[in-house]
Amino acid sequence: MKRSKTSKAWMREHVNDPYVHKAKAAGYRARAAFKLLEIDQKDHLLRSGMTVVDLGAAPGSWSQIAARQVGDSGRVIALDLLEIDPLHNVHFIQGDFQSDAVLHQLEAALAGQPVDLVISDIAPNMSGIATADQARAIYLCELALDFAASHLKPGGNFLVKVFQGAGIDAYRRSMQDVFEKVVVRKPAASRDRSAEVYFLGLGRKADG
Ligand SMILES: C[S@@+](CC[C@H](N)C(=O)[O-])C[C@H]1O[C@@H](n2cnc3c(N)ncnc32)[C@H](O)[C@@H]1O
Repeated sequence: MKRSKTSKAWMREHVNDPYVHKAKAAGYRARAAFKLLEIDQKDHLLRSGMTVVDLGAAPGSWSQIAARQVGDSGRVIALDLLEIDPLHNVHFIQGDFQSDAVLHQLEAALAGQPVDLVISDIAPNMSGIATADQARAIYLCELALDFAASHLKPGGNFLVKVFQGAGIDAYRRSMQDVFEKVVVRKPAASRDRSAEVYFLGLGRKADG
């Protein structure tokens, strides 16, 4: 099949991307690793012994980082539609986060243990229809926030990828109901032309 101009441009950008090279050299499964590393360096989210839930985890670079930081006294529960290659100290669940059955699997894996940190890099496959894509992205973010609100321990934190566009202000307000503080992060590895930014909810309120 003949490659389109867009896929050629994507390939050129990918091949020249310093984060792709750095990820390969460091053994990370995706360049996305550097987004979490930068945010964690600034906000100190990950610590030894923590229980972390990673939503939209494939191919697994955030889980790699989280598992290393929490160590053997902590644990990471990761979820994605796609399979990931196994990682030490990561309990992986394959399924659709929108499904109740998958949510129950996640809850069963937690076995009532409160969560210290929820990280969500979930992004739906884009159809190219901007309004529909934004609605699907926001819906997944809302599910992630519901999950964080009901499973994080008081004081726990929530990092979520959002796309700037319709619904984002209302989403941020709903995060503010749950967390003491909500800040925006745009790590260097997140391309300037990408509408993605990360909202970080710090300190789940006891009554949020
Ligand atoms: C940007 S990737 C995540 C990259 C990951 N943080 C890493 O570091 O390797 C977004 C992921 O969200 C997943 N995803 C999208 N919709 C989902 C859904 N409904 N349920 C579970 N995972 C979903 C996709 O399969 C994709 O792997």
